[in-house]
Amino acid sequence: HQRIIIDTDPGVDDAAAILLALASPELEVLGISVVGGNVPLEATVANACKIMALSNRADVPIYAGAPGPLIREQVYGKYAHIGAFSDQLVPATDIKPEAEHAVSFLIRTTRNAAEVGDPITICAIGPLTNIALALVQHPDVARGIKQIVSMGGAFTALGHRTPWAEFNIYADPHAAEIVYGSGVPLVIMPLDTTFQALLTRQHIEGIQAAAGAPGRALANLLLAFDRSDIGRFGRPGGPIHDATTIAWLLKPELFQGRKAAIGVQVTGRTAGYTYADYYGKTDRPPTSTIMHSVDEQGFIDLLFERLNVYSRS
Ligand code: BDR
Ligand code: CA
Repeated sequence: HQRIIIDTDPGVDDAAAILLALASPELEVLGISVVGGNVPLEATVANACKIMALSNRADVPIYAGAPGPLIREQVYGKYAHIGAFSDQLVPATDIKPEAEHAVSFLIRTTRNAAEVGDPITICAIGPLTNIALALVQHPDVARGIKQIVSMGGAFTALGHRTPWAEFNIYADPHAAEIVYGSGVPLVIMPLDTTFQALLTRQHIEGIQAAAGAPGRALANLLLAFDRSDIGRFGRPGGPIHDATTIAWLLKPELFQGRKAAIGVQVTGRTAGYTYADYYGKTDRPPTSTIMHSVDEQGFIDLLFERLNVYSRS
């Protein structure tokens, strides 16, 4: 099985990603490092704790990390005003984060992985602040990272936070540039791909009906935060961006991509713009794979199959 850390800012689609990972025996989740993003850090941490409680996985440690971006002023997600998940949507819990800081956890765990010669995968589904801080403070942590599977960026699809930028990159472009330029192998799930796998209201009702307490809570969240975005994509349905990173780890054959070097525009009106260098025009090595398509039905089937694991517990 694969050992992973999930770096996250829950977030409804983060919740879907975490639940998908925890329902999958192929993955060993070593810990959850949390960052401010969709909502302030206090709320992303509280949400992460609630998701762990839902899936009955109090054994997976949660670490609070960077509250905000390295340099730019903070921006939150579309539903920031709602804050933490309400107890009506996701039941309250006693689970608390560890005392250790998320960046310290990332450094400790990746260094240890390098020492034992078994590098780990990081699933990065929020702004990249924690991971950038770890890489800057101790560049040797790169040796303990097998790959970073990052939900972020937009290449041929339009950005959706600004015309140029996707939220995770826009929220901390400097951190993204550090991580994307670090030479660590990357698998990028940009909007180009996540916009192709849409959950409709019918799918969400299916999750609600079949998949036990985690499924019910996830369906509540998807409905409350209106992820079905009817019409925006020319057909019914809404994306579950972050869950694609876990789906790739489980079934890479569902995705198609292309090798490139990538980078991020960090300042000005176009801050957060991600560029792909397919032809070796920059000095960066092509260590990233940028995904451009996904088998939508295969992705949805996988999500359902794994969420249904919870209905049996
Ligand atoms: C990304 O931004 C966040 O709002 C989502 O959780 C996802 O990680 C999509 O652009
Ligand atoms: Ca996220």
